[in-house]
Amino acid sequence: MKTADAIRWSNARYHDLAAARYDAKWGITYDGVGQTQVTRKLRKALGRAPGRYGRALEVGAGTGYFGINLVLAGVVGELVATDISSGMLRTLSRSAADLGLEVETVRCEASALPFADGSFDLVFGHAVLHHLPDLDVSFREFRRVLRPGGEIAFCGEPSRLGDGLAALPKRGALAFAPLWRALIGARSRPTWNGAGPTEEEVLERVVDVHAFTPGALYAPAHAAGFERVRVRGEDLMAGLFGWANRTFESTAEPDAVPWAWRVYAHRGYLALQALDRTLLEPRLPAGLFYNLLVSGRAPG
Ligand SMILES: C[S@@+](CC[C@H](N)C(=O)[O-])C[C@H]1O[C@@H](n2cnc3c(N)ncnc32)[C@H](O)[C@@H]1O
Repeated sequence: MKTADAIRWSNARYHDLAAARYDAKWGITYDGVGQTQVTRKLRKALGRAPGRYGRALEVGAGTGYFGINLVLAGVVGELVATDISSGMLRTLSRSAADLGLEVETVRCEASALPFADGSFDLVFGHAVLHHLPDLDVSFREFRRVLRPGGEIAFCGEPSRLGDGLAALPKRGALAFAPLWRALIGARSRPTWNGAGPTEEEVLERVVDVHAFTPGALYAPAHAAGFERVRVRGEDLMAGLFGWANRTFESTAEPDAVPWAWRVYAHRGYLALQALDRTLLEPRLPAGLFYNLLVSGRAPG
């Protein structure tokens, strides 16, 4: 069992090491596609079209995927981006500067936010809550820095069932990986070089501390005093497809994976996301999906 400090330290170090290649690894873009993705997720979390937020705080902003795209989409006026990793924030600042945006970055951690009470209209994040060792304290901080009536919205949190389901496409893809590499003509990536796991691989086992049931995500928001707390699920077919493809790709030398395959994997993922969105998400319980989203409103 790791201490809260060890989890925070591992997260900062892991994400510092990942920062330079993060956007390429996750296909992050600051264009119409990125803006549509994040606006859609925020709409799902809130249960309605997002309004315009004057001043917004992003927790665990990483390289800027969610916050920068929300600014570009006109949903957020002034963005304050925070993260425990200075490496991630440096990449974010470079991307913001390239896009001609002014974004304030602050290195801090989610359970100790260096901001005055009531100073934001929206506190949000993407794929960050599952890294936090002290969720109750963090949600109390989110509420403290929000103005009365302000909102929280967190998206992209792994669900417990989804985490278990992810093992199936991973196992299947590993079994069929030699056939897949032969079909697309990719060289295999050596799995053992005699040097043992890399520092990133060791840290990767420590950085994720939660996979949530809907109730486990609802509880800290409710306990912190948020009203109208709602938890929703997204990505099922898209999740299965995405995990299988990422596992296939991880067995090949990255430069040996043909461009046509990457285009197919990306387009297929978007098509299945549309299927999930229109057919499955309105009908199935949140806990069945890969990702959970939570929102709530500060009283007042
Ligand atoms: C999976 S990344 C997601 C980054 C970004 N939100 C995105 O969607 O691309 C998680 C981010 O949370 C940050 N993080 C981890 N633990 C944190 C903590 N205790 N406080 C603040 N940020 C943290 C990491 O440094 C990393 O940038």
